[in-house]
Amino acid sequence: MNNLVRKSVARLAPYCPPLSGRRAYRGFLLDFNERTEPYGQVVDAALVKFVAENRLQCYPEYGDVNQLVAQYAGVKAENILLSNGSDQAIDLIFRAFAGEGDKVIIPSPSFAMFYQCAGVNGNEVLTPQYDRASGAFPLQAVLDVVDESVKLIVVCNPNNPTATLLSVADIRRILDVAKKAVVLVDEAYVEYSGESATSLLSSYPNLIITRTFSKAFGLAALRVGYVVAASAVIDELIKIRGPYDVNMVALAAVRAVLSNLEPLRVYVREVMMVSKPLVENFFTDNKIFFYPSVADFILFRPVNPEKVFMTLKDNGFLLRPRRGYGFDGTLRLSFGTAVQTRQFIEVYKKVCLNN
Ligand SMILES: Cc1ncc(COP(=O)(O)O)c(C=O)c1O
Repeated sequence: MNNLVRKSVARLAPYCPPLSGRRAYRGFLLDFNERTEPYGQVVDAALVKFVAENRLQCYPEYGDVNQLVAQYAGVKAENILLSNGSDQAIDLIFRAFAGEGDKVIIPSPSFAMFYQCAGVNGNEVLTPQYDRASGAFPLQAVLDVVDESVKLIVVCNPNNPTATLLSVADIRRILDVAKKAVVLVDEAYVEYSGESATSLLSSYPNLIITRTFSKAFGLAALRVGYVVAASAVIDELIKIRGPYDVNMVALAAVRAVLSNLEPLRVYVREVMMVSKPLVENFFTDNKIFFYPSVADFILFRPVNPEKVFMTLKDNGFLLRPRRGYGFDGTLRLSFGTAVQTRQFIEVYKKVCLNN
């Protein structure tokens, strides 16, 4: 089999996030930057209603949802492509714009899916590094390596795992030099950061933004994301995405959340205005190093990361250890509600400090 498969695929390992045991874990899942509580009754009601309509035997159609998503993103429906999670959106963009041997820039460390897609397509990957001291995006290093042979540049904004942000003005600086490349801005956490590059779309047809309903909207299990881009870009990507890749059950939930934005606002406000400062103050008071966060997660470096990770896991809080590109020995913590965060801090104090 190995001699039949494309060389780029044969060389790869599967992308396997550490999911095993999560469903059975009796504690708080603070390891995948998910919403830590359901969106609410509006979603349950929409799903029940969808099932009662007895339309499971019909193929999907997306028209009105494209329109709703466009309205939410502040663009036209022709600028939206729905995808099966933003993972699929990223996959479509790499397949459309970066072929075998093409250069792509992935500032690192970043979200695993970028490297996986580059690997599948046999791209040459350049990895300027986020600043180990500040977690800042390596802007100058990116500008230095951009040339006419680069086909795709990733700006994960905010970046997973550092939770740091590149300003819209600096994204523009990249777009100004990268005339021959597509710039993929991943905005999976835009609801938390409040900073979007959509205002640049009308001036830069090579800008492509990906977003998701998996994070602040809490619909990760249903798998819906979307691309925001010039209609000419959408016209290309739609040739690759299957006509029914996003299912109608998921879209019933998307309709419900977009028609009821209050639970989104309430949760984002609580995470950013209460939980995040609680954790930051706790880390500061206890001299635990952390990177500045503009998302629903934070990357920090305790003195003994393996021990802290295992102790927290044994005491009801699952975090995600991160490594690579100079960020070894860090842990990523997703913020939850204020109540959960206070519990987290109490447990951390009791079992991890002075141990
Ligand atoms: C930066 C970033 N982009 C995209 C995704 C993919 O999300 P989904 O495929 O659920 O939309 C994630 C998930 O963790 C992420 O952190």
